[in-house]
Amino acid sequence: MAQKIVVGNWKMNLELNEAKELIQGIKNTQDDVRVIVFPSSVFINAVSEGKNEGVEVGAQNFHTEPKGAFTGELSISQLRSSGATVGLIGHSERRAYFSEGNELLKMKVDTAMANNFDFIFCCGEPLMIREAGKELEFVKMQLEESLLHLTKEQMMGKVIAYEPVWAIGTGVTASFDQAESMHRSIRTWIHERYDAETANNVSILYGGSCNQANANELFSCPNVDGGLIGGASLKADSFCTIIDSY
Ligand code: PGA
Repeated sequence: MAQKIVVGNWKMNLELNEAKELIQGIKNTQDDVRVIVFPSSVFINAVSEGKNEGVEVGAQNFHTEPKGAFTGELSISQLRSSGATVGLIGHSERRAYFSEGNELLKMKVDTAMANNFDFIFCCGEPLMIREAGKELEFVKMQLEESLLHLTKEQMMGKVIAYEPVWAIGTGVTASFDQAESMHRSIRTWIHERYDAETANNVSILYGGSCNQANANELFSCPNVDGGLIGGASLKADSFCTIIDSY
């Protein structure tokens, strides 16, 4: 069975004291749910020290090189030494505003694998693609070009977040049918590329205006294994309600 996961992506929000206060309020009351928060990297250390048991801390981004002359960048070993246990790869904001394409994201996947660093691979189509009815082939291409080169052993237990770009930060959430249809397709592609065991072991999270009011319905989709939450993860009570939706 795929692990259930609830993720809070704090993006470029909060100052140090706010981040410290927020992490104290985040409690994972579910034995079988993995909870991870992604603060700004400069706060990873403080947030790791202040977190409650059952909560993990991750990095929103990392560089492909282990060290050296890359001003402003952070390596996996630096992030790990600050307390990060997992990284985000390919969030749509990195793709859109920092020109991260499928080729670079494949390198990040390989860097994470080489460093034994857990990651969440994000994918999702922009509105234009959805309106043209091409969302399935678009997302399939994102996965094929950056992730599905992994071996079966490497793919087992991996985490994918499907985040339709038109739903991120817009208040427009994918419907039950839209989410389930994409998630089912992703699982089918993994099944076709690998096998049923691998497909059933990959967690597929939904992201995009998921909040305390709709998490219950989204998490009830058979192929949705949790959520990647942006705005609603910035308040402890709304984030904890989402965790408790399970
Ligand atoms: P949102 O962000 O919940 O604010 O839509 C989701 C995300 O980008 O991870």
